Amino acid sequence: MKKIISTLIIAATFQSGLHAQSDSKPSEEQLYRPNFHFTPKKGWMNDPNGLYYKDDAYHLFFQYYPDGNKWGPMHWGHATSKDLVKWEETDIALYPDDLGYIFSGSAVVDKNNTSGFGDSKNNPVVAIYTYHNPNREKDGKIDVESQGIAYSLDNSKTWTKYSSNPVLKNPGIRDFRDPKVIWDAKRKQWVMALAAQDRAHLYTSKNLKNWTFQSEFGKDLGGHGGVWECPDLFPLKLEGSNEEKWVLIVNINPGGPNNGSAGQYFVGDFDGKTFKIDELFTKQLNKEKAAWLDWGKDNYASVSFDNVPQDKRIIIGWMSNWEYAQEVPTETWRSSMTVAREVSLKKTKDGYILKNIPVAQLKKYHEKSIRKTINIKAENQLVGKSEIDLSKAIIDLDLKKMSSGKYTFALKNTLGEQVLFGIDNKAKELFIDRSKSGKTDFGKNYATSVTKAPLSQVYSNAKMKLIIDKASIEIFFNDGEKVLTEIFFPNENFSELTLNTDTNGSSLVFNAYQLNIK
Ligand code: FRU
Repeated sequence: MKKIISTLIIAATFQSGLHAQSDSKPSEEQLYRPNFHFTPKKGWMNDPNGLYYKDDAYHLFFQYYPDGNKWGPMHWGHATSKDLVKWEETDIALYPDDLGYIFSGSAVVDKNNTSGFGDSKNNPVVAIYTYHNPNREKDGKIDVESQGIAYSLDNSKTWTKYSSNPVLKNPGIRDFRDPKVIWDAKRKQWVMALAAQDRAHLYTSKNLKNWTFQSEFGKDLGGHGGVWECPDLFPLKLEGSNEEKWVLIVNINPGGPNNGSAGQYFVGDFDGKTFKIDELFTKQLNKEKAAWLDWGKDNYASVSFDNVPQDKRIIIGWMSNWEYAQEVPTETWRSSMTVAREVSLKKTKDGYILKNIPVAQLKKYHEKSIRKTINIKAENQLVGKSEIDLSKAIIDLDLKKMSSGKYTFALKNTLGEQVLFGIDNKAKELFIDRSKSGKTDFGKNYATSVTKAPLSQVYSNAKMKLIIDKASIEIFFNDGEKVLTEIFFPNENFSELTLNTDTNGSSLVFNAYQLNIK
């Protein structure tokens, strides 16, 4: 009798298990909620805003509409992190008010209390953001956007908006937004870079409240396929030298190298009032038209943190593209951020390269690893199904003795869906092809073309670092000299990685790490 009962229990359990399996499709949480890229619990998110470090914590604010999954009246959402990897979402920091929605902007740690909002013991954090006034917009007015400030004395738990906002009125320019402020230590002044339609405006201030226009930059320089947005001006030492240059990141939408939104950069000098590209960068622009921070379709509005220890310049971008961001197939939340990346500046005889690589803090999450050395054949299995979890992985690829053929890596699942990427030494380019990656028929131009990044030479040796989450890949070629970031929406998480090639004689050293992260 006992046996019969236990057999019945086993049969019933098995059946209900089967039933549950055949009925239940994986949820969007299981399929697309990133394992380690920041995404809000619910609602719409776009640009990162107000990035700063203070008192052992990194702060990330973001363009946020909590009541819907499409763009709407903008707030600043807020998340914090001890290590730039694990983020914890906290309360909304800034709400729209009578002056308008709270558009993109920055935050600074006011160490000398120049604003007078705090005191010498308790340094205020001051947020500088754009007010976008929907009523003036409806009335067809030009002066829709102005700049406001707010401060926090308790590490961003609470914010007080300045009573005399706006601090910078609209001068008659329709697109006039996204203030990014830094402390210019040499001249003891605050410098604000602001996007003004098709160029950047620079302003200075002694107290973050009164701003003086100094100069404009870029009307006929670089990419101009769309409006300029989210600029970021900062100094950076050249790699291996003490020489300092100034970098201006400018995001544009549309007009990216593979359509839609993207970030470009300029390199030159800043004298406290004017930013000018130098001779070498001028030559570079004559050849390349624009220098791109990331060639993939999904890294927009990248800007940097204020006050990072050891003067590191760390950036985060929004991992989407205005071409289809509002249609991506998630309902509860929309979009995530890139991993935090450290930028550095390399000078070559052909120009400057603004390299970016994932922050070192990711290494402490390495859990399980595999290492292989492979003589590359036509078809090579790199990661098999049960080896490591490819929905939270970092993979270092070291390719040697390559010939002028094509090296195609594929992330695959058991449904036959795949993301292809790699190096085409014949065409001299890097590529990502997500046309067969699962859900692709939403939005505009999501998967209608292969993403490409040109290479200046045929590479016989090359390195690639891959950061793979459930719904994204970030590819860092040769220590971040070229970067491609893209999102995807498979109907089952990817579980295999392969490499196919049409040449022979090459080899690959391959290190893959599963991350211990939730
Ligand atoms: C860039 C952007 C900014 C603006 C914000 C509005 O994605 O258009 O220029 O401040 O988004 O949400």
